[in-house]
Amino acid sequence: MTLSSSNLSSWFSSNPTIKQTPSTKKAVNLTFKTGRSPCSLVTSNASKGSKKSVQDLPVKNGSSRYCLCCPRRHFLGVLGTGLLPVFPSFASDEDPMAVLNRIHPPRPDWYEEFYASAMEKAMTSYEAEIAGYKSQLFASLRGKVDKILEIGIGTGPNLKYYADYPGINVFGVDPNGKMEKYALAAAQNVGLSPSNFKFMQAVAEALPLDDASVDAVVGTLVLCSVKDVDKALQEVKRVLKPGGFYVFVEHVAAKDGTILRFVQGILDPLQQTVADGCHLTRKTATNIAEAGFASLDVNEVVLSTASFVNPHVCGIAYR
Ligand SMILES: C[S@@+](CC[C@H](N)C(=O)[O-])C[C@H]1O[C@@H](n2cnc3c(N)ncnc32)[C@H](O)[C@@H]1O
Repeated sequence: MTLSSSNLSSWFSSNPTIKQTPSTKKAVNLTFKTGRSPCSLVTSNASKGSKKSVQDLPVKNGSSRYCLCCPRRHFLGVLGTGLLPVFPSFASDEDPMAVLNRIHPPRPDWYEEFYASAMEKAMTSYEAEIAGYKSQLFASLRGKVDKILEIGIGTGPNLKYYADYPGINVFGVDPNGKMEKYALAAAQNVGLSPSNFKFMQAVAEALPLDDASVDAVVGTLVLCSVKDVDKALQEVKRVLKPGGFYVFVEHVAAKDGTILRFVQGILDPLQQTVADGCHLTRKTATNIAEAGFASLDVNEVVLSTASFVNPHVCGIAYR
């Protein structure tokens, strides 16, 4: 396994546009076992509510799927992704279903199934390489969270890291309904009962959850694909309780001026078309740093299994 990482301060100094908010919370040392440098993580006083199943969680508008009266995901959807349309902005209090249908227009069933099945089968080596980092991130949340929302949950590769948290309830949000059966199977495999796991078809830009309703939001390889990164981050902040955690692993643009960044610029349009809207050149860590979290800890890693989809930033932002 080839992994490299840089610590937070050197990473920020090489990314001068990023401002790290000083933490007022107690820091604990966390060393990524597979990394070369320690990553300082911060404890939080995430408030824990009474234990409830996911059915008891506050769901905005009660809608979890697009309705049958909406046009099925059709050919225009594929064209829409491939031709990179500019979508209008939307208000934060819009109906999640309306936003889903507008910014993630229906794709044909075969396309969604193909992508879901590809994600299920093709990520094994990547997941093995990133496992050490994910384990460390999720270990730091153990015992501090009851309710987790995972945005862009896909086939559910992260469930195994937190399924055994005591009394955990999980919402998984994804616009691709074909991910549901894979996510449900992953939940079952790691011992999450259907009463403690709920899949919801929605987008991160309009989460179907109430304000301050979850202790943690998880998102891995998602902000590369959302239509509006800043809107998604504002939604993450909205649904997090004060003191809550946003755990992320995202691939970002390589450093400006490098050969890798040049290659990413060439491949970006193709990547968006073949990988369901995934962008190679986003500076997602900057978006996270500027989203207004109370504090942020982030580590940069290069993964040998991810080829030109590098580097990755992984960390925790604190509400
Ligand atoms: C590369 S996959 C990652 C899936 C999973 N998080 C993982 O780590 O394997 C990107 C996921 O983001 C979902 N996605 C795309 N646009 C989204 C949006 N606007 N909001 C939430 N999820 C989105 C896709 O359907 C897909 O499941």
